[in-house]
Amino acid sequence: MDHPMDHPIAVIGGTGRTGRLVARRLTERGERVRVLSRRPPRLPGHLPPGAVHHRADVRDPASLRGPLAGCSALVYCVEPGTENEGPDRPETTMYLGVRNALEAATSAGERPRVVLVSQIHTTHLGHPLNAYGRLLDWRRAGEEAVRASGLPYTVVRPGWLTEERPAGEGIRLVQGDAGTGTVSRPDLAEACVQALACPSADGITFELFNSSGAAPWQPGDSTSAWELAFAALDWDLERVA
Ligand SMILES: NC(=O)c1ccc[n+]([C@@H]2O[C@H](COP(=O)([O-])OP(=O)(O)OC[C@H]3O[C@@H](n4cnc5c(N)ncnc54)[C@H](OP(=O)(O)O)[C@@H]3O)[C@@H](O)[C@H]2O)c1
Repeated sequence: MDHPMDHPIAVIGGTGRTGRLVARRLTERGERVRVLSRRPPRLPGHLPPGAVHHRADVRDPASLRGPLAGCSALVYCVEPGTENEGPDRPETTMYLGVRNALEAATSAGERPRVVLVSQIHTTHLGHPLNAYGRLLDWRRAGEEAVRASGLPYTVVRPGWLTEERPAGEGIRLVQGDAGTGTVSRPDLAEACVQALACPSADGITFELFNSSGAAPWQPGDSTSAWELAFAALDWDLERVA
């Protein structure tokens, strides 16, 4: 029988600080991984053993077709440019790039699972971050493109990224885009990997933070714990049943 693990998972932006961790966790779980970015990994250790790097630019649809063909899933963790005009404006990577990736990944009728890394504050229309090429507007448009795709998806909105989770803290998944805070890249990467593995993550959008509190939630790599946490969240209104 054709098992999804026989098909590769694409990590778009997989040479970046979060993408590298996503790619590594996926290979550790026995997945075949394709890492996409414009430039090769800066250090050999940035590409986990077994993963294959493909040069691709999300702004160039033709560069995505080969690397995304036949993938069972994709994780999109591309960093946007912040210019107001030109190729490095956020629209190109946060919206058009997302659409290009969805189109390339479905061009032969595939229905990949999609995890989009977005950010907190995407629904805050007057937020100062929007001064950078309407960054938040285009993030929101990218999220909407994923929800409208009809594909199984999860939108993860991390808080401000740090390298490590502070000692004694856990993580917190919330909805409504009302909070702020930080979250470590390892926690974000684990959330992306678990979202691919958990049916209950399909059709949801959530914010992700590190958190202290009396009994901080520390799920580690327990898929059953993540499955329950995702199941406790509300489906997006746009979710296709
Ligand atoms: N920094 C924060 O506090 C924060 C907060 C919330 C959300 N986020 C989001 O979290 C995600 C991960 O952030 P990070 O700091 O870990 O990322 P990062 O280290 O900056 O890595 C970004 C990745 O995107 C790739 N990339 C950039 N432009 C591309 C393009 N046009 N086509 C293909 N690949 C491209 C880069 O490789 P090449 O340059 O070689 O192409 C790299 O692999 C990003 O989406 C970021 O916006 C960040």
